[in-house]
Amino acid sequence: MIRLLPPHLINQISAGEVIERPSSALKELIENAIDAEAKNIEITLIEGGKRLLSISDDGKGMNKEELFLSVERHATSKLPTDDLFNINFLGFRGEALASIGAVSHLKITTKAEAEETGLSLEVNAGKKSEITPTAHAKGTLIQMRDLFYNLPARLKFLKSDISELLASKEVIYKIALAYPEVSFTLFNEKKKLFFFPKAPSLKERARDIIDASFMENTLDIKATRDGMSLKGFISIPTYTRATSKDQYFIVNGRAIKDKMLYGILKAAYQGLLFQGRFPIAVLYLDIPHQEIDMNVHPAKTEVRFQKEASV
Ligand SMILES: Nc1ncnc2c1ncn2[C@@H]1O[C@H](COP(=O)(O)OP(=O)(O)OP(=O)(O)O)[C@@H](O)[C@H]1O
Ligand SMILES: [Mg+2]
Repeated sequence: MIRLLPPHLINQISAGEVIERPSSALKELIENAIDAEAKNIEITLIEGGKRLLSISDDGKGMNKEELFLSVERHATSKLPTDDLFNINFLGFRGEALASIGAVSHLKITTKAEAEETGLSLEVNAGKKSEITPTAHAKGTLIQMRDLFYNLPARLKFLKSDISELLASKEVIYKIALAYPEVSFTLFNEKKKLFFFPKAPSLKERARDIIDASFMENTLDIKATRDGMSLKGFISIPTYTRATSKDQYFIVNGRAIKDKMLYGILKAAYQGLLFQGRFPIAVLYLDIPHQEIDMNVHPAKTEVRFQKEASV
């Protein structure tokens, strides 16, 4: 017998693709804040984000209709033209909040600039509450509690608090490298772990995130070809790491995992490095929208290049 799955199960299935652990929820939530033009983003984690992950932004906020729709599946304000090759925001699937709401206790508190009061809405394992008025400054506060409390089988896959914290830090680094004009603060168990102030340049931000000595041992990269542009910093061959962790590729404002790009970097240093050493790289590649497919991976961490050879 073929049956149509009930909506709560559909939501859990699609949440499974996007929300794997606290840091994957965090990535979606930071991207939403940036899409909402936030200039300051503050994140708090308790138990590595498993107990609580909260993120507050000073972006545009949402009015009542927007808040109501924001947690529905396939509801987005970011795809006005139906063209998946004309993507001007980090989000476009309209799924992240619905997915997070399907697998946690989600609470959204928000206030749009034009509105008098703030509003809040909760979603508990996919069940939406009424919207209630609440006092709130401009912007949006999202609190995700008890991720996977309704999916014990998934809960078991979450790692220790410290591993989950590390994964979230890495997510923040990647996005922060792409958006130096936004400040980021991370609190863990009430302790402030870092604050990256609004940076005057990509270089300043990279200095905050990687380290000052990297910036003294880099080559500046600047190149263009076929309408694409590449810029950023790579380490000189004598300044290396034992892992490839500090290699960041930011394509059209998004940190991307791409085997080809890692391979190109490796090839560029061939014969210059000792075995087992890795260069550091923070590279920003900008490609015309129509030449890149962003809709390859549910978490949008992979892309397809139309002109692979030129890249
Ligand atoms: N922090 C925020 N500030 C203002 N509006 C927000 C915020 N977060 C979400 N929204 C609104 O809610 C909508 C749904 O968010 P959601 O993350 O689920 O989808 P999306 O960002 O449109 O696409 P994707 O699933 O690819 O992230 C957004 O399109 C946006 O209009
Ligand atoms: Mg989103």
